[in-house]
Amino acid sequence: MADRRPVVSARLRIIGWMVAVLTLAFAALVVLTWQVLAARADGSADRELTHEANKFRAFAASPAAASFQRPEELLDRWLQSNLPDDSEALFTIVDGKPYHRSQGSPPARLDTDAAFVQRLSGATTPSYGWVDSSAGRVRYGVLPVRIGTQPVRAQLVVLEFRDLIAEPSMAAARALVIVAAITLVLAAGASWLVTGRVLAPIRDLRTTAERISETDLRRRIEVVGNDEVAQLARTFNTMLDRLEGAFTAQREFVDDAGHELRTPITVIRGHLELMGDEPQDRAETTALVLDELSRMNRIVDDLLVLAKSDRPGFLELGEVNLTELVVEVVAKARPLADRAWRVAATADATIVADDQRLTQALMQLVSNAVRHTATSDRIEVGSAVNADGSTLLWVADSGPGVPPEDRERIFERFARGTAAAGQRRTDGAGLGLAIVRSIARAHGGEVRLAPGPGARFELTLPVQEEEQCTGS
Ligand SMILES: Nc1ncnc2c1ncn2[C@@H]1O[C@H](COP(=O)(O)OP(=O)(O)OP(=O)(O)O)[C@@H](O)[C@H]1O
Ligand SMILES: [Mg+2]
Repeated sequence: MADRRPVVSARLRIIGWMVAVLTLAFAALVVLTWQVLAARADGSADRELTHEANKFRAFAASPAAASFQRPEELLDRWLQSNLPDDSEALFTIVDGKPYHRSQGSPPARLDTDAAFVQRLSGATTPSYGWVDSSAGRVRYGVLPVRIGTQPVRAQLVVLEFRDLIAEPSMAAARALVIVAAITLVLAAGASWLVTGRVLAPIRDLRTTAERISETDLRRRIEVVGNDEVAQLARTFNTMLDRLEGAFTAQREFVDDAGHELRTPITVIRGHLELMGDEPQDRAETTALVLDELSRMNRIVDDLLVLAKSDRPGFLELGEVNLTELVVEVVAKARPLADRAWRVAATADATIVADDQRLTQALMQLVSNAVRHTATSDRIEVGSAVNADGSTLLWVADSGPGVPPEDRERIFERFARGTAAAGQRRTDGAGLGLAIVRSIARAHGGEVRLAPGPGARFELTLPVQEEEQCTGS
């Protein structure tokens, strides 16, 4: 369960962000709509009021109103002939007291509000304002009535209940809020499903990765489609390929090494068990045992070189002069055996490489050449710079060469040529060419067996960057 947490939280994070953004957007939308609708309601309350006031003024100025002696008569006639809307109410004030009110029941009574009436009764000119009531905000207008030159002692009060006027728009706004809330919930639900589907391959990837152990590196992730997740899976699989390759190579290396070392151990053991008490017998056995031990020692050293070869730090790079390299190798090789030694060709060039490793590789080739030639045979070592700028180093001999069926195989670890089957075991472990190859590859190059009479092994080192050659 704890393993699932990171995935779920990624999902929650995505949804959390989405919900937050949507909520903000919806809130802004609702507030804006609300404000626009409220402003509109204010406006229409105003318009209604003006409309009512104008109607009343027109009536008061009409010839029909000229006969009234007292403002009460005029106001009563008006109240009788005028039926207000549901969101409207009218009442009259005479001598500072509420007098009559319009027919029907108003949404809220303001003529009973003594303070309000008191305030309005002082009006001698038309005035307008806002007042709160039990039915919400009210836009009011007070119109004083004057007959002839009498002082003002009566007013008509028009009330527009804004909240009632706004009601249909506000209902729309409320519906908007509900729709927004439902949309939010639906969006959250949908993104829960979508993120689940999107993250599922990643979850699979993780589960597979968890199941893959050192011992079961064969498992791979199923690649579906061609999206980012598929790419991730493919990258992951490639990484597993490399890992598996590395593990297999390591296992084979250990197997091979163990297998090869067992032979000298068995030989030593056999000799020691059969050793008699005779001094001569002892001396012979000791010599044999020492011989086998030094052979083992060589195998272990060679194996260490091979094991180190694909690790960083295997090469100690420096400037290597190709002429000096070849001349020194021939000088070192000459005492090994009586052969016709030749420096075939030398390139007057300096490359960046590991001098010691290159010498080691050439000496391996030279010792093979010595082993497969006789006294009068020719062995040559040479260096050249190819037309494309790459470096060529070679060791060639006039021996019998390598049989075609062995040409590729001999470069493998512990691989000896078929002809070697009849030779003495002490002849070689089959590690020489593998070492040459790993030294070549560590330099970014390759080793190959060139066709021709005799054996000619060529080491090619890649073209070097300009600054590498001239640099430190
Ligand atoms: N110059 C050569 N002429 C003919 N055959 C060769 C020559 N060099 C190598 N070979 C063949 O390639 C095989 C592998 O050579 P490699 O150097 O890897 O092993 P080795 O010489 O047998 O043992 P080691 O080098 O570990 O002592 C040899 O056993 C031999 O059959
Ligand atoms: Mg060899």
